[in-house]
Amino acid sequence: MTVTLSIGHKALVQETFQQVLPISHTFVTVFYDQLFEAVPETKSLFKTGMDFQRPKFVAMLLTIVTGLDHFETLTPNLQELAKRHIRYRVKAEYYSAAGNALLKALAVVLGKAFTPEAHVAWAAVYDVIATICVEAAYPSDAQANKPTIELSEE
Ligand code: HEM
Repeated sequence: MTVTLSIGHKALVQETFQQVLPISHTFVTVFYDQLFEAVPETKSLFKTGMDFQRPKFVAMLLTIVTGLDHFETLTPNLQELAKRHIRYRVKAEYYSAAGNALLKALAVVLGKAFTPEAHVAWAAVYDVIATICVEAAYPSDAQANKPTIELSEE
């Protein structure tokens, strides 16, 4: 699989996330509902409580979306985040479920504004993020299903 992240993808993701921010509580609630429905065993991993976790996830997503313009600083941040997730008992395969939950939550809160192009852009961006996380935290799992990432200037 080859993931190509273009400047167009980044711009679309940054633009759509601006629309999500004012309704981020609904967005993040749908996100976790979707994740827990798809992989029920993940629910019990959240020990601190969802009222604390939801804003942390939104804040990190904002950091990531903003950081797409600066991969040299974003990458080490993501690697550290992923390594902390090992201690939360997160498995490599949960990242795909979280990606699907993310796309679903965006579709629910953005409605028609979540165009097919925006969907593709978010999927590409999430693939890049998840790849960096999985490669950092679970190097042996990452080898089994390793996407090739190309950052193009289109
Ligand atoms: C790119 C994807 C993800 C982002 C941006 C993200 C973001 C965060 C953030 C900001 C925290 C707060 C603690 C910290 O910074 O170390 C956190 C904690 C946590 N995340 Fe994630 N996460 C992601 C993927 C996942 C996945 C796939 C799972 C799988 C279920 C997961 C489960 C957890 C758990 C269990 C905690 C600890 C919660 C607690 O202490 O109650 N995360 N995450």
